[in-house]
This record gives sequence, C-alpha cells and structure tokens, in this order.
Amino acid sequence: MVISHKLRALLKTAESVCVLTGAGISAESGVETFRGSKGLWSKLKPEELANFNAFMRNPELVWEWYNYRKKIVQEVTPNPAHYALARLQELVKDFTLVTQNIDNLHIRAGSKEVLELHGNIERSYCISCGKFAEHIEVTPEKKVPHCSSCNGIIRPDIVWFGEMLPEGVFESASDAAERCELFLTVGTSAVVYPAAQLPLTAQAHGAYVVEINMERTEISHRLQETLLGKAGEILPELLKIREEKKE
Ligand code: OAD
Repeated sequence: MVISHKLRALLKTAESVCVLTGAGISAESGVETFRGSKGLWSKLKPEELANFNAFMRNPELVWEWYNYRKKIVQEVTPNPAHYALARLQELVKDFTLVTQNIDNLHIRAGSKEVLELHGNIERSYCISCGKFAEHIEVTPEKKVPHCSSCNGIIRPDIVWFGEMLPEGVFESASDAAERCELFLTVGTSAVVYPAAQLPLTAQAHGAYVVEINMERTEISHRLQETLLGKAGEILPELLKIREEKKE
C-alpha cells in the first residue's frame, strides 16, 4: 500500500481529525456487513426487521433477531482497526469518531465519546415513556421485554429505516466534519444518508478526505484518496506514522 506524501504529512501534523466508520471496520472481528453478495441484507429483508411498523406487528420476531445479533457482537472482540482509532484519539487534540455501527466495538476498544449515528445494540428504551432500560430480561415465555416503570414495550435503541437519527448526534458529527483537517471514511459503502454526506461535507470545508475500504465505493471518485485493503491492516499503519511524529 502506498501512502501519499500529503497523507503522511497530515498524519504527523493534523490536530483536528474526524473518522466515520461503517460495518466494514468490524468485518475482521467476524461481524457481517450489510451489503454485497454475502451481506445481511442479501439474506434478510430490512423492512421486516429494521422498521418500526414491523416491530409493532411482530415484536417477538424483531427481538429474536436483535438478541441473536447481540449475542454475536458480544462474542466477538474489537480488532486492530478499532484499537488503532482508540489510540489515535489519545494523540490528536481534536478527534471525533462517528460510527454507523451498533456493535459497541469502538467503545469496547477504548474509544471515548463516540458519536453513534444509528444507536447501540447494548441499549434499549421504552416506546411509551422513553425510559432507558437498565436491564432487559427475555425468557422463552416472555420474549418481549416491558418497561419496569410503565409496562410499555421496550425496543432496541437502534435507528430503523425511516426514523430520525438521535437528536444532536448528526449535528455534532457535521460540526466535526466541517472543522477537521483530515477526514477518514472507513469500511462504509457510503450509500446510507445522511452518514454518507459527512465525507463530502468535510471536503467542501477544505479537509483532506481519505477512504479506507476493500473496494471503491459510490463516493470514491469525489475524494482525494482511496486506500484499498483491510481496515485492520491500514489503520495501524496510519497510526504508526502518527506515533513516529517528532515532537
Ligand atoms: P455496508 O455493508 O453497506 O458496507 C460495508 C463496507 O465495508 C463495504 O464497502 C465493504 O467493501 C467494506 N469492507 C468490508 N470488509 C472490510 C475491511 N476488512 N476493511 C475495510 N472495508 C471493508 O455497511 P455500512 O456502510 O456500514 O443501517 O452500512 C450503512 C448502514 O446500512 C448501516 O449502519 C445499517 C445498514 O442498513 C442501519 O441499520 C440504520
């Protein structure tokens, strides 16, 4: 992999960096991505699982699916890409990590103040009173958890198709994209908006935008560089350049 002079220089000097991640960053941990011939959405219908009306029609099915996914993400571990970003945060004064992932792996790797655009599978809340559920219990007899305060139905804290992003999170991500010098878009197909807007926003405000992906995406032609390869190999390389920076 060739790292350009420009990127090398920015990695050493940038004091404002924003990173957007997608499912591809967790692929090497063993979490399936969404698109592509082997992706989740080639086997399952998002409108039956990741949709509020579908949840109200069949909360048992939707909970079964999320409990299954929760078990998978709890069994896997963060990979070198997640750890490299957690370490990079310690080295850059103004560092923002924005993720579309719900798998909690960035937090488990040690990243702080992660802007989670699509929620987090480890959290859930009551659709009636909005209270976050501390502890959810599902049993073979009781497959849909209910709120300990008002007995309303509890749902996963995940943004489903057609829903708004959590208040303020996208705005904070946009602010970070606007002020950063270097923007990395990692392991995302960049087809889901508004997340896919962030690299373009960064670019419009003068940032150097670098994509890290196994293949080119819909926005590659609009960005300064695409580094083709595995996030778990490329991000540790980029981190090494930052760590070698002369004080
Ligand atoms: P996708 O499944 O659409 O894209 C994953 C991307 O990761 C693809 O471009 C792959 O080429 C790339 N990739 C795979 N393995 C990689 C690796 N080891 N290193 C680097 N790149 C790799 O996932 P997202 O773009 O995250 O939304 O999807 C966006 C949203 O669509 C998700 O957050 C989810 C989904 O519907 C919700 O659930 C709301």
